[in-house]
Amino acid sequence: MESNPPADTRARILVADDEADITMVLGDLLEEQGYAVDTAADGAEAWERSQQEPFDVIITDLKMPNMGGLDLLRKVREAGQRAVVIIMTGFATVETAIEALKVGAYDYVLKPFKVGELLLVVERAVEKLRLEDENLHLREQITLLRLSEAVASSLSVDEVLSIVGEAALTEVQADAIELWFRPPGAAAFTRRMGVDRDGELTPVLANMGTLEASLDGRPHLQVQGDDLLPLLSDEARDRIQSLLTVPLRRGGQLLGILNAYSRRGRNAFRPRDEKALIVLGDRAATSLENALLYADLENTFRETIQGFAHAIEAKDAYTHGHSENVTRLCDGAARAMGLDGEFRDALRQAGLLHDIGKIGIPSSILNKPGKLTPEEYEAIKGHPAMGQRILDPISFLREVVPVVYHHHERFDGTGYPTGLGGAEIPLASRLMAVADTYDAMTSDRAYRRGLSHKEAVAELRRCAGTQFDPECVDAFLEAFGDGTGES
Ligand SMILES: [Fe+2]
Repeated sequence: MESNPPADTRARILVADDEADITMVLGDLLEEQGYAVDTAADGAEAWERSQQEPFDVIITDLKMPNMGGLDLLRKVREAGQRAVVIIMTGFATVETAIEALKVGAYDYVLKPFKVGELLLVVERAVEKLRLEDENLHLREQITLLRLSEAVASSLSVDEVLSIVGEAALTEVQADAIELWFRPPGAAAFTRRMGVDRDGELTPVLANMGTLEASLDGRPHLQVQGDDLLPLLSDEARDRIQSLLTVPLRRGGQLLGILNAYSRRGRNAFRPRDEKALIVLGDRAATSLENALLYADLENTFRETIQGFAHAIEAKDAYTHGHSENVTRLCDGAARAMGLDGEFRDALRQAGLLHDIGKIGIPSSILNKPGKLTPEEYEAIKGHPAMGQRILDPISFLREVVPVVYHHHERFDGTGYPTGLGGAEIPLASRLMAVADTYDAMTSDRAYRRGLSHKEAVAELRRCAGTQFDPECVDAFLEAFGDGTGES
């Protein structure tokens, strides 16, 4: 596959004139001065050329067959091309030349012109572009700064990727951007981002395998023309002519690729585009990597929570499986209430952890078969606050802590630790109170058998409005049956 030809950093100039002598002489002259020159015999040809590849300067005659210089200028400006346009004109059409300045021509030279005069105008035009580039470079730095902040401030991966996509569209002068990602251990790449100037982009890349093989350790790769076709999806084939791809690597492993696409065939991407895309790719990779680490951490953390839950139960001999039961019951009731995923995630974690504060209570009290003394009962009542103290420093559990803290409040405001009532008690805690009590009532103890479902339901009903939020009781019964038809 053809790739990365040595970059041509010369300024590119297109000369359009229907007089072949002029294009030839001017062409040679400019080449001698170190410019890369292309020529066109009329405006239409020049327009076509300018769409195929970007020029820095277009020097055009005013009067040409097919399309005149003024129309060419208008089209170039309307298309937002970067090229600076210089008009060549005879004395008779100098008014048209002035008109051209109004439409956005950079300058005009009168035919017949002195060579030195024209070269001066071209030099000034190229200098103007250089300054614009510098400006762009500054803007680029600002974008990158914004990106670094976004990555550092732990925005979601999707947010970071969307900033990367937007930045790449402008900084790399691409028509579309796509990012494919493959987490370590996964077999296939998944498309994580695709944007073009109109917003959402239909998938462009169809053949990741071939592209991955061609990348083979390179920092970037450009693919055009016939080499590109086999890589593209059917819909993309007539729209995309060039691909600039940057691998996202971590420790020698290919995590993903960031692709810029262009409608232009030749010289679509310049060395500065390659540089910009590499930097953007690096930011995207960092963000994706952080997300992976975070997911890892969350998993470890979830396992730790489970470990904690088991630790509580190991201490409290009668409550084996209680945390898991409460979690399951809470989740069922929450689903019946139509509550969303995030709420239920927090509720499930809270379910596993709700009695974690019991870790601080002596086993002799927890496992005492007989009646508790008032002091012992006070010690037990301390467990929601103890749970809060244990969980409070853990930032993952911001949503969980209040649920644990209030799980022994009563709807009528006579519970503990704060005596909150009604809707002041977090909804998750109100649900948990129902689930917690139900599981305690239906579990066997050494000194008594558990209640039947029907008996427990009767008890929940009896206490709806005093101990429990009636709506939570209703949701619980909707999820687990109201006991009718059971013995
Ligand atoms: Fe409890």
